[in-house]
Amino acid sequence: MAIIIKNKEQIEGIRKSSKLAGQSLVYIEQFVKEGVSTEFLNQKIHDFIIENNATPATLGYNGYPKSCCISLNNVICHGIPSEDTILKNGDILNIDVTTILDGYFGDTSRMYVVGEVDKKTQKLIDDTKHCLNLGIQQVRPGNHFGNIGFVIGRYAKAKGYSVVYEFCGHGIGMEFHEDPQVDHLSRKNTGDVMQPGMTFTIEPMINQGRPKAKIDKEDGWTARTIDGKLSAQFEHTILVTEDGYEVLTDVSDEY
Ligand code: MF3
Ligand code: CO
Ligand code: CO
Repeated sequence: MAIIIKNKEQIEGIRKSSKLAGQSLVYIEQFVKEGVSTEFLNQKIHDFIIENNATPATLGYNGYPKSCCISLNNVICHGIPSEDTILKNGDILNIDVTTILDGYFGDTSRMYVVGEVDKKTQKLIDDTKHCLNLGIQQVRPGNHFGNIGFVIGRYAKAKGYSVVYEFCGHGIGMEFHEDPQVDHLSRKNTGDVMQPGMTFTIEPMINQGRPKAKIDKEDGWTARTIDGKLSAQFEHTILVTEDGYEVLTDVSDEY
């Protein structure tokens, strides 16, 4: 499959959907507290998306049962919200939301902390955010996709972390997962070349321990670290512009 170059109208649609996904991550922040279940957060996100005339892309996607993914502590990604998972002081979690608005997809995730976390844990979160930002800075016409994974891998390793290689970023826009696969660990100047109008995610998952993931046998989704150590992730949907990038899921004017 080839990488789709989006036209103006498509880009505007993806931009709107991406903004809504970004807004849902801002909206949910007030509810992330000790004692709350991850299913409660899922329901809030579901209602927010529906009220904004969109649908949650994960609900029913390859049989996935919920409207977002919520991945706690040693869960790398694809944590399934549950009544039985109650947030407690010191937990860290990633909430990952993908919206479909007027047929267009936007996908973003970020970390939240419950109460107080120790310095090392906060550093994992900050360093993972920095990995995403380093990746974003590689986005411009003519650059290779491999350079995203090159700079992320170099930084993560220098800080003593490992980079998850079993889950990747992806093209997005008309579909949830389009070409290309965006690796977070790759060699310099490899892979496809970026062109204006391409839209894709960068979503590094960074582990304190070993990089390997183990999928839960019972639910078929939850991906955990094999050593029980912590994992963090941030994700944005990015557009390649004529001279660089636009972070479509950013609603904070950070970029
Ligand atoms: N939002 C995830 C991503 O960043 C995909 C979740 S698929 C699901 O690509 F089925 F687990 F929800
Ligand atoms: Co994604
Ligand atoms: Co996502």
